[in-house]
Amino acid sequence: MPTAIASVERLPHLLTLDGLGGDRIHALLDAAEALRPHALGGTGLRQVLAGRTVCNLFFESSTRTRSSFQLAAQRLGADLLNFDVAASSLSKGESALDTLRSLRAMGVEAFVVRHAEDGAVAALAAAAEPGTALLNAGDGRSNHPTQGLLDLLTIRQHKGGDFSRLAVLIVGDVRHSRVARSALHGLRQLGCRDIRVCAPVGLMPDAAELAGCSHGTALDAMLEGVDVLMALRLQRERMEEGRVPSAAAYFNDYGLDERRLALARPGAIVLHPGPMNRGVEIASAVADGPQSAVLDQVANGVAVRMAVLRHLLGA
Ligand code: NCD
Repeated sequence: MPTAIASVERLPHLLTLDGLGGDRIHALLDAAEALRPHALGGTGLRQVLAGRTVCNLFFESSTRTRSSFQLAAQRLGADLLNFDVAASSLSKGESALDTLRSLRAMGVEAFVVRHAEDGAVAALAAAAEPGTALLNAGDGRSNHPTQGLLDLLTIRQHKGGDFSRLAVLIVGDVRHSRVARSALHGLRQLGCRDIRVCAPVGLMPDAAELAGCSHGTALDAMLEGVDVLMALRLQRERMEEGRVPSAAAYFNDYGLDERRLALARPGAIVLHPGPMNRGVEIASAVADGPQSAVLDQVANGVAVRMAVLRHLLGA
């Protein structure tokens, strides 16, 4: 019997998937699955967070994450404040914590925060007054827990809930990817035993982070038997000098095209968190092809964020 999310101890924040445990992760996925029919509009759930206020506080740009948190909050009936960092007093030197405290004083209960610095959202959570929920929408290269949950939900929908039988390959700039780190946290806790990481040497994470994974630099040789392929964007903004490969050379060695997809298990699905750079890490024929689950990921993101907001706000 799956554990219902209502029966597990409520989390004060969602900062990372690391350490949540398989039962809690499955319970959050079950809650998101149940919300899926309501997630894409006209929900009839607008009483759930009526009178509650959620704030998007994004210090880095975003399309999917920011919009889907906004829609998730609104479809549950919350008031949503889309805080404009660039036009705020943050540009006059006010700290993120003072900003958060001011917004808290206006009645904001949950903050969805994206920040370029590793650990920045956890630091805000540690300093915030009790009763303030922090949701990490991506910090540096460290964590992106709701992306991890939506990736797991998409895999579960397409491939079933027994992760121990699946082979998952993450390819690309794994070193700088918070998406990959959250995926690794989640996959390990759900019992996935065949996790493969493929990256050029300069974009491979440190050895300690690869515990329990097989890893290599030659993509073709790692594709056999793979059920799930996750491609990642080159995080040029997080790379030190000298690590940035040319787009053409990168596509040649690590781009997911139809020839490579055919080397995976028939029916394998392709994931990409977006934003996609077509012709760099993924070919259009794959991104838009029948094995692509990219838009399922996006749709699942709304349901996952509804489930997480409802859980953290105890609604
Ligand atoms: C990613 C992010 O910001 O970490 N996108 C997302 O949230 N869907 C990945 C990226 O920027 O490459």
